[in-house]
Amino acid sequence: MPPAAPKADNRRGRDLDQPFTVQGIMVVSKKHPVTKAFTPKRLTSQGLTPEAGQAASELIAAARKDGITIKIRSAYRSYATQKEVYERALRTYPSEAQAKRFNAAPGESEHQLGTSIDFWDGKLRGQGIAKTALGKWLWKHAREYGYILRYPDGREEITGYTFEPWHYRYIGIEDSMK
Ligand code: DAL
Ligand code: ZN
Repeated sequence: MPPAAPKADNRRGRDLDQPFTVQGIMVVSKKHPVTKAFTPKRLTSQGLTPEAGQAASELIAAARKDGITIKIRSAYRSYATQKEVYERALRTYPSEAQAKRFNAAPGESEHQLGTSIDFWDGKLRGQGIAKTALGKWLWKHAREYGYILRYPDGREEITGYTFEPWHYRYIGIEDSMK
């Protein structure tokens, strides 16, 4: 059975201080922004909600057992930090439309939830990550820890972003293994 159409986002005014949710999962995206008033209730020292942080620690430990070093390059980013990231992108890319393919505007980044991680090995950045042992390990195993690849290859029309083989978000094992 195809998934049901997502419910409409009818948030207005102060409702936008809290993220849109789909079946209990918080969603922040171009279509479902949140204001700068939203910050996660609790964040670990890794910049993750307690559940996402615990799962990330387990994921990283499991990868290490398989001989693969996985580090967190970026997790929680406040609205203000995302604003800096986005403004840098606007200076880097030739147009706003181009910048928006790679970086979220403030209030539109999943990183504001404290459930998303940009992974890396400490060195390599960019789409080449997909072909590395780290990229392959994450693609194969991240879901076992409740993390899903958020911006897959060839899905820009749906996700709004180009392929990001490093960006995973926590949704919990029950949903990630579906
Ligand atoms: N790079 C992702 C889309 C972000 O900026 O949140
Ligand atoms: Zn990211």
